[in-house]
Amino acid sequence: MLASVRARIIPTRKASAGWTAATKPLRGQAVLPLSVFASFYHKPARSEAFKRLSAEDVNYFKTILPSETILATPAVGGTADPAELDAFNADWLNKYRGNSQIVLRPKSTEQVAAILKYCSDNRVAVVPQGGNTGLVGGSVPVHDEVVLSLRNMSKVRSYDEISGILVCDAGCVLEELENYVAERGHVMPLDLGAKGSCHIGGNVATNAGGIKLLRYGSLHGSVLGLEVVLPDGTVLDNLSTLRKDNTGYDLKQLFIGSEGTLGVITGVSVVTPRRSEAVNVAVLGVPDYSSVQRAFKLTRQRCGEVLSAYEFWDASSMSAVLKHQDLRNPLSSEYPFYVLIETSGSNKDHDDEKLGGLLEELMEEGVVKDGALAQDDSQIARMWSMREGIPESLSKTGATYKYDISIPIPVLYDIVGDIAQRLEKANLYKPGSTSYPVRLVCGYGHIGDGNLHLNVVAERFEDKVTKIFEPYVYEWVSSHRGSISAEHGVGLMKRDYLGYSKSPSMIEYMKRIKDLFDPNHILNPYKVV
Ligand code: FAD
Ligand code: MLT
Ligand code: ZN
Repeated sequence: MLASVRARIIPTRKASAGWTAATKPLRGQAVLPLSVFASFYHKPARSEAFKRLSAEDVNYFKTILPSETILATPAVGGTADPAELDAFNADWLNKYRGNSQIVLRPKSTEQVAAILKYCSDNRVAVVPQGGNTGLVGGSVPVHDEVVLSLRNMSKVRSYDEISGILVCDAGCVLEELENYVAERGHVMPLDLGAKGSCHIGGNVATNAGGIKLLRYGSLHGSVLGLEVVLPDGTVLDNLSTLRKDNTGYDLKQLFIGSEGTLGVITGVSVVTPRRSEAVNVAVLGVPDYSSVQRAFKLTRQRCGEVLSAYEFWDASSMSAVLKHQDLRNPLSSEYPFYVLIETSGSNKDHDDEKLGGLLEELMEEGVVKDGALAQDDSQIARMWSMREGIPESLSKTGATYKYDISIPIPVLYDIVGDIAQRLEKANLYKPGSTSYPVRLVCGYGHIGDGNLHLNVVAERFEDKVTKIFEPYVYEWVSSHRGSISAEHGVGLMKRDYLGYSKSPSMIEYMKRIKDLFDPNHILNPYKVV
């Protein structure tokens, strides 16, 4: 049965043969000159409670850190070319930019503790930084905060092949961990397009979701323990490898998703599931959004026990990918929506039959118009590159405004058309035309998790564009009792909009927790609360 389905849904081998091999997800963006950063985002004023760094501070850091781990410009008594700090001062989207004159790259938890103790005692503001792939302006300084980069802490501390429990430094790159556990028959419980650069510590700090959340759940479940350095230098050693531990408050949960505002994560203990023997990936062409939902319902009904991902993107996202990535559409024509289904199980024949049956049913019911089923690992990788290549393709198209929202699936995509219309009405956008300030409005995301990424790509970041959808998007999300941040976090971008998703009393308790852990507010100031 499967063969006939394949024959019908795979357009041609030729189309696939033209695809290039999946490329490693990139650090990506060139760092733009300062002049490009318009004043469109309103920086909070620098707090004068924070000390301005001097050579005296840098001299102290030299007593606790090896000299090669300090990058300081002449402005604070160092010798580094200020351009060397650009990559630490600018975020991945080239949207936010700070003016830090010093980056510290400690090699041990003790060094992190010594740095933080000094900074807390002397009211020196600090921004913890992992792979700097965050999308809400949380990972870069707002003003002259010290950048505390974890990239020199990248060792696996232990791995238990029976339980699959990995304990590692926070600065390990996600993809390197993925390769490490893959050699031992396991997978990391999270995967995202930024895996080639992001750190596990950054993933935990943002509670990153990604494409496997549907299968393995959030990091609140997979992370078993954390080692965290508090702003006063205390090391909270909660690097447990236990699956079960009900001894009072589960403090680690507070740091998962705290975005560097409560402590610096230096070690992570995480459970890694077994790698599935049989993986299938299909890309489908879908005529409308209601069919995307119907297909999801049927996929869960027919293949729920092996379903490992259900992603979708619209035609505008696809056009950006096809323009900027060396990939071809695996389908024979264009469709309003595309869905990527992945199954991962232990019995290939069983999974093939199940997925084959599902695809046949979807085609027969007209829910899906066309489809391609990957025939080997390289086709699987290319199909995933198509989905994971969207953020980078949009950034290559222009300045990307990104909204990451959670709302009930039936109305999730409405906001994309709504925003496009508002922009058209304001004479800022015309679909298909390049003579307007806005070039593209698109939506994609983890529909299985009820998470849409609404993106507006413009010539540049500027107020006249921003004001069309801010705070409108947040009001709209709030009216559906959704979340203004499904997975990217709050950072600087959404700090002033937190009230759209959290009640005043919840925000008050968040502030009290912040005061408790960081009474001098030196950690990642101006962000989150
Ligand atoms: P950074 O960007 O360096 O930092 C992010 C935040 O965490 C900052 O507030 C920072 O201060 C804090 N932080 C970093 N390290 C530490 C630490 N050790 N201790 C305390 N605080 C720390 N996110 C998703 O959820 N799902 C996706 O599918 C997804 N896909 C992405 C695809 C691309 C191409 C890109 C560029 C980003 C994507 N993201 C996604 C955004 C995501 O939040 C980050 O990629 C990732 O989790 C951040 O890790 P990082 O090491 O780069 O952290
Ligand atoms: C994704 O799902 O691709 C990421 O969250 C990044 C993005 O939203 O662009
Ligand atoms: Zn995402």
